[in-house]
Amino acid sequence: MSSRENFGSRATVIMAMAGSAIGLGNIWRFPFIVGEYGGAAFILVYILCCFLLSLPIFLSESIIGRRTHQNTFGAMSTLAPGTAWKWLGLLTVFSPLIILSYYSVVGGWSFAYLCKAVTLQFKPENAEAVTSMFGQFSTSTWGPLVCMVIFLGLTALIVYFGVNKGIERFSKISIPVLFVLIVLIAVYSITLSGAGEGVKYLVNPDFSKLTPDAFAAALGQSFFSLSLGVGTMLTYSSYVSKDENILVSAGGTAFFDLLFAILAGFAVMPAVFAAGIAPSSGPGLVFETLPFIFAKMGSGAQIISAAVSILFFLTILVAALSSSISMMEVGVAYLVEEKKQPRHKATVLLFVVTLVIGVLCALSFGTLSGVKLFGNTIFNFCDKLASNFLMTVGALLFSVFVGWKMDKAAVRDELTNGGTLSGVKKLFPFVYFLIKYVTPVTIAAIFLISLFG
Ligand code: PHE
Repeated sequence: MSSRENFGSRATVIMAMAGSAIGLGNIWRFPFIVGEYGGAAFILVYILCCFLLSLPIFLSESIIGRRTHQNTFGAMSTLAPGTAWKWLGLLTVFSPLIILSYYSVVGGWSFAYLCKAVTLQFKPENAEAVTSMFGQFSTSTWGPLVCMVIFLGLTALIVYFGVNKGIERFSKISIPVLFVLIVLIAVYSITLSGAGEGVKYLVNPDFSKLTPDAFAAALGQSFFSLSLGVGTMLTYSSYVSKDENILVSAGGTAFFDLLFAILAGFAVMPAVFAAGIAPSSGPGLVFETLPFIFAKMGSGAQIISAAVSILFFLTILVAALSSSISMMEVGVAYLVEEKKQPRHKATVLLFVVTLVIGVLCALSFGTLSGVKLFGNTIFNFCDKLASNFLMTVGALLFSVFVGWKMDKAAVRDELTNGGTLSGVKKLFPFVYFLIKYVTPVTIAAIFLISLFG
């Protein structure tokens, strides 16, 4: 255990955690969910969910991870020896792998679309064909598979290099680059003619559109976006040194994740309105609607629109990679520490396992579209299993564990670094109240309503 790596500094802790958090959830999922639930009002609910419900979960995972400096299974077995809590540790070794399997399919699509953008396939003369391009591509066999293998291979390569030389180094470069890129794209999008309506949509709340479903959607989105409930933040926190302030690293990560999601909203929505397309056009927004917009814009200034489309898909790809590495790291840490496997073997093993499930997910758009699990295609089943069930149950149990099973003094000790952080000491009663009561009760209520309501 002595050779275990730690993140280098506070900045790198936040970059690595933000790397995990900022991903397809922000660029692909957030804009269309905002579109479905009516814009600015939903964003307000989302912000509340992030800070009142998700941040306490984030802190719960951080407390467990940093206290033990171990993988999810080792951490739970150490803090609650001989109890069933170790199963939560084991469950969270598997949940990120399920997410990684279908996430890699979308990661592969972004790679494919980056290639399409680079080879200038979004041209004004084939603007109409661009929307059907996605259907043709995603239902074909070899293209999506090859791109997925490339995406997973890149993920495994970064993880193989380890916490400092792989994950930390990649995130340190990718996060600042991602922010620069998304700001550039947002500026371009806002300055398009007709974009004003899109901006209004993002800033003027319409509370009449806030259905009860919107609350469950906001909570689910904030878990997904902050990588919670599946042991990722627990594992990353286990690489945080004892003198770091975990309230600051978790809060900082939540802030950057939110900022990026909102910037992504400004990158996508104004362009969508400028092109006169319905804001609620669903998951196809990024791969169908935007290429169509890029193609149409091309008739004016082709070079600029080509450059923006390249930057846009590059942003998605890099953001997806900095998240996928965090999913793989959970299992690698487990295999290295509990099963005493060398890091390269653990990485290759997980690459193969996710590849197998990933192939099934990728083919479920075409060849295997007839195969249904509980009425869903394999891809949708994995997505629902992970984001509606595994994440919620994991998040709930982590907060119950810290609030009810762990000793309160130990929780205080971990959050305040042995009482040395006076600011955190003052906030402790409030934070503990959120972890112990507010978070578990609200999550359980929303979960039950969405299951039976
Ligand atoms: N937070 C990532 C995103 O927004 C997804 C993720 C989920 C990453 C779970 C790790 C674990 O894309």
